[in-house]
Amino acid sequence: MEDNLSQHTKNILGLQLQTDPRWVNLAEMQLEDILTDHAYCEQKAATTCISLIQKNPEKTLLVEELSPLVTEEWGHFRMVLAEINKRKLQLGRQRKDIYVNKLLDFQIKGGGHEDRFLDQMLIMALIEARSCERFKRLSEGLDDENMRKFYRLFMESEAGHYTLFITLAEYYIDKKIVRNRWAEWLKYEKELMNSAEVRGDRIH
Ligand SMILES: [Fe+2]
Ligand SMILES: [Fe+2]
Repeated sequence: MEDNLSQHTKNILGLQLQTDPRWVNLAEMQLEDILTDHAYCEQKAATTCISLIQKNPEKTLLVEELSPLVTEEWGHFRMVLAEINKRKLQLGRQRKDIYVNKLLDFQIKGGGHEDRFLDQMLIMALIEARSCERFKRLSEGLDDENMRKFYRLFMESEAGHYTLFITLAEYYIDKKIVRNRWAEWLKYEKELMNSAEVRGDRIH
């Protein structure tokens, strides 16, 4: 299936496996669940950026770049919440984040501060890239024109965030080390996506 992923998307996002095409149809039938899940994804993006700043105050560029990102991700949360309200839907409860938990399993155990930092940056890049790819599917595949436009906006933002986390990793750590580890992450994520159940009630 990965051969269907356009070279353009591969170059931008690096992802090795395209989302199962059935996913958009499932998501469309469970819009309340998808919007709820999306809302929490945005919230977690904001809180993770806060936590990265707290753990790395000496990294001036990171602090500079992630501070506005907190605001932006929180703004995304509010946009999703507004959409939920507009549609007279209900923000549901947060679900267990299987995708992110499985990514965390692949994190380097032990290791030095630098190894852990690199994995944290690459996990964020991966989540942003996969979210971007999923938003792209929604922006192309949903029937509702307003929803397609809505997801187009998110797709564009998350593409920029993906790049930012890679750039930050390469600023603080040798580029060759970053690239090698990124290749390992992409391979792992492909296997993860391949084995995951296709569910319409969640973004990943
Ligand atoms: Fe976002
Ligand atoms: Fe983001």
